[in-house]
Amino acid sequence: MRAELFGEVERVQALGPGAVRLAQFARAEVSPLLGAIAEIVAAAPLRHMATPGGYAMSVAMTNCGALGWTTDRRGYRYTATDPVSGRPWPVMPPVFADLAARAAAAAGFEWFAPDACLINRYAPGARMSLHQDRNEADFTAPIVSVSLGLPATFLWGGAARGERPTKIRLASGDVVVWGGPARLAFHGVAPLADGVHELAGAARFNLTFRRAR
Ligand code: SIN
Ligand code: FE2
Repeated sequence: MRAELFGEVERVQALGPGAVRLAQFARAEVSPLLGAIAEIVAAAPLRHMATPGGYAMSVAMTNCGALGWTTDRRGYRYTATDPVSGRPWPVMPPVFADLAARAAAAAGFEWFAPDACLINRYAPGARMSLHQDRNEADFTAPIVSVSLGLPATFLWGGAARGERPTKIRLASGDVVVWGGPARLAFHGVAPLADGVHELAGAARFNLTFRRAR
């Protein structure tokens, strides 16, 4: 743990080997991050993707970076272009990549250079069921997850789907990093509670940074 990069060691909460919550790590960047999301969404609109089973996801998604995560009836995968427009995903803004690298380093994962950023938008009631992030080619890089807007209950599971998850409150500006022995941990988000955030409105945004290839 590189506590000196973070400053306030008491704000680092270990979730288990390889996983930490960095409370308020992104507090100074919430407004610029939301502004950058608005620009990305203007070029690559949020959409409710279909699962392979044919259900529309309650979370609306888009991407930025060289690769973007998508799902449809054919399955989950990373693509270099937005299937809706046929154009490359918007470039990852420096404020995104810089934050992701600093958060990864604070969690002990040096030299994290994400090539993909999934942008999730949760309206009240939207949820994400327990899953593993396993569509990436290389599991040596961590996942960096940034929460913005309304607070959420993050469900932190173990290595097996059947383990009862721990509930972790994530506020705007909180960052969770998981890698190494935690890289394939199950995780999800409980249905978002009603509310209005002063900057994000009635929504939670989540950025998940990955090294996809
Ligand atoms: C995800 O697993 O892609 C999203 C996690 C979150 O919204 O906090
Ligand atoms: Fe995930």
